[in-house]
Amino acid sequence: TVTHVVLTGGIGSRLWPLSRKTLPKQYLELFDGESLFEKTVARNQNVATNTIVVGNIENYKMSDAIMAKFRKPFTHIVEAVPRNTAAAIAFAAFASNPEDILLITPSDHIIEKADLYNEALKQAIQLANQDYLITFGIKPTKPETGYGYIEFENENVIAFHEKPDLKTANAYLEKGNYFWNSGLFCFKAEKFLAELEKQEPEVYWTAKTAWNANENGFLDYELSLNIPSISIDYAVMERSAAIKVVPAQFAWSDLGSFESVYDYLVNKGHPIDSNKNIVIGTSMHTTFIGVKNCILIYTVDALMVLQKENSQEVKEVYQQLELIA
Ligand code: GDD
Ligand code: MG
Repeated sequence: TVTHVVLTGGIGSRLWPLSRKTLPKQYLELFDGESLFEKTVARNQNVATNTIVVGNIENYKMSDAIMAKFRKPFTHIVEAVPRNTAAAIAFAAFASNPEDILLITPSDHIIEKADLYNEALKQAIQLANQDYLITFGIKPTKPETGYGYIEFENENVIAFHEKPDLKTANAYLEKGNYFWNSGLFCFKAEKFLAELEKQEPEVYWTAKTAWNANENGFLDYELSLNIPSISIDYAVMERSAAIKVVPAQFAWSDLGSFESVYDYLVNKGHPIDSNKNIVIGTSMHTTFIGVKNCILIYTVDALMVLQKENSQEVKEVYQQLELIA
């Protein structure tokens, strides 16, 4: 059996003010009247027999509303407090049969070219059946520091490097034998748990204790606080020797910042002026004078203008607002 595990813990703070705590990016009907969450579930319906949604107390009703459209039973795991992806994936693995193949995906990415995506999944499932942990590699186009990098040699993964600094990322790009990690993973439930127990026993055991006490998929707050907050990338991927990479030919964007939203929209033919400025969220006539590469974001109660290159700093604005809110 292949089980699709949908991770939906993020708030997409780098997309504020489009994305809000009460309505995170994956629930926004951003592009064509469908949320990224819904697109994610739909995209994996062919290959997966089961779906497990791992979300939290703030978003489970939004997920339920979308899942109802699929008219199929699914498992909902509801975290009391976010403990990052190693634990979130562990819960899904504990909820599965040991032999089940888990296909882990974020709920907030754009993936296009469905046939190529399905092709990649087929390869990944085959490798996962041979007890490997599978990552999907994207050909890098810039020294992005917000991603993990997969160092490869032919078919083999030499090492996984999560979020390098800019200097290191530049060196990776120059060398050429590095992929970006897309954030999708595929492995047997038991293989992941065995690796987690080996690499991060504290996460494994505290997550297991919390999971054993779950009530209808809802996790206990106090027990969850005991779980170290660490991502699968640092906890397992950087350390495991059993990783394989499937090069992704499909089109992928994590829409993680306004810079990637900009690239995505412009690629799709979104209007752009001669100085490469764009407007999101309004059809109001907008004029930019003397500025280049700017993005204006308009929402009913907040307006933001930013230089495309400064997209990573939006997170700080969000954090400041959270403090004064
Ligand atoms: N349920 C749950 N609980 N989900 C979570 C939690 C949590 O505590 N934390 C994160 N998630 C979800 C997010 O909503 C997102 O869909 C996914 O897990 C990945 O988390 P991010 O926080 O977005 O990770 P990242 O963007 O910093 O890095 C990951 O993705 C990159 C590609 O987009 C890494 O896997 C990188 O290596 C990768 O390049
Ligand atoms: Mg992300």
